[in-house]
Amino acid sequence: MRMIKIFDTTLRDGEQSAGINLNVEEKLQIARQLARLNVDIIEAGFAIVSPGDFASVQTIAREIKGVTVCSLARAVKVDIERAWEALKEAENPLIHTFIATSDIHMKYKLNKSPDQVVAMAVEAVKYARGLCPNVEFSAEDATRSDWDFLCRIFGEVIKAGATVINVPDTVGYAMPSEFARLIRYLKENTPGIDKVSLSVHCHNDLGLAVANSLAAVENGADQVECTINGLGERAGNAALEEVVMAIKTRAENFKADTRIVTEQIYRSSRLVSTLTGKPVQHNKAIVGSNAFAHEAGIHQDGMLKNRMTYEIMTPQSIGLSQSNIVLGKHSGRHAVKNRLLELGYNLDELEIEQIYQRFIELADKKKEVTDSDLEALVRNEFQAVADRFELEYLHVSTGNSTIPTATIRLKVDETPVQEASCGDGPVDAVYKAIDRITKLKVKLDEYNIKAVTSGEDALGEVTVKVRENGNAYIGRGLSTDIIEASALAYLHAINKIIRASNK
Ligand code: KIV
Ligand code: ZN
Repeated sequence: MRMIKIFDTTLRDGEQSAGINLNVEEKLQIARQLARLNVDIIEAGFAIVSPGDFASVQTIAREIKGVTVCSLARAVKVDIERAWEALKEAENPLIHTFIATSDIHMKYKLNKSPDQVVAMAVEAVKYARGLCPNVEFSAEDATRSDWDFLCRIFGEVIKAGATVINVPDTVGYAMPSEFARLIRYLKENTPGIDKVSLSVHCHNDLGLAVANSLAAVENGADQVECTINGLGERAGNAALEEVVMAIKTRAENFKADTRIVTEQIYRSSRLVSTLTGKPVQHNKAIVGSNAFAHEAGIHQDGMLKNRMTYEIMTPQSIGLSQSNIVLGKHSGRHAVKNRLLELGYNLDELEIEQIYQRFIELADKKKEVTDSDLEALVRNEFQAVADRFELEYLHVSTGNSTIPTATIRLKVDETPVQEASCGDGPVDAVYKAIDRITKLKVKLDEYNIKAVTSGEDALGEVTVKVRENGNAYIGRGLSTDIIEASALAYLHAINKIIRASNK
């Protein structure tokens, strides 16, 4: 397996997206997450551009270890000096210098001849190599440049000491087959290319950034430059999460892998979206909220029989806990029955049919049928049997110098029963006291708490997932007192266990 290096430029090209402006602290937070994601290189900014960019590169260079930290620099001395000044304390610094090589850029933007451009590139790389052991050279607008001119300039900068050669599709103009041919051509015709890493940097103007990057990997590229959520100039850059998951999911096709800890992908996407204020589109590959949501009845049925019927990768592989089966008017009986079971309602076929008819009527009026809707349907339909255990009294004593202790009184089939217990914390003490009364062997798998209203008298909602006899049950409790909400959630789940066992 070849290891493809992932060069993340969220903090440089990504930050060049219109409307994004991250401060040093925010960039540092993203850089820490990129280190957890295990990217090979973080392009932390363009040091000469502003004091803020300089400070970001410098702070990341000082603080983030175990990953190469890079700054962009035009092929001029002042830029390179500034980049080095910001980078010099990095464990593994990289100066990334660039100059445009297409006729249109050389003539109209730079007003320089091809020979002058080669001379500037060589001088810049030599100067950068005198300061820093790793130097990347990019030929801006490479895909609209003359291929033989590219081979010439790349050959010259390799002689001057470049360690990485980057081929940007700056304006997102290339087609995958054409980009693949360009990469092969460069590999076959650039002197010294086998001594350096070959990198690609694709923009998404025609929606082909990921396809072009992957075509390059198939044809020998060693490094892909990309951004979280595909942020970047104009339509953005190749999305890191898509490039990485394509290589991972189709490893046999690429005969390659990356060092990315894919379980950190979702967190990285959320963090970048929150800090940049740029939401991720719902149907975005890999990290969109619908990427693992199944709505069609046939799909839900297939998923419940075998997840691989409609999922080519698991939600867990990007750090999500589970796929989301959205109950709506396209859902079939199988999905509804399964959700009812998870909620603790083990109904027979006739009862399922009854509930399903009510469910379809409701789903016609509502986009999504929630768990509480389903529970209400069941209650209405079957006049639910009264809960066996009801909370009557709760007292907890806790603090930083006392052992948390809980006293609980439950009404058990109308008779009050009281117990007390100590615990590792107040919630643990409450749950132990409840266990003493119910005498059930219940394992707490998940405990979540959230505020459902705001202000000092906010309502806290506790959700628990417990396991008994191999079956999982979800319980919810709502109260302004979070300990009481915790007790109610636990009892809610326990009453479901009782109902399921009565059935
Ligand atoms: O798109 C581009 O050409 C760039 C270079 C500076 C690599 O971002
Ligand atoms: Zn770019």
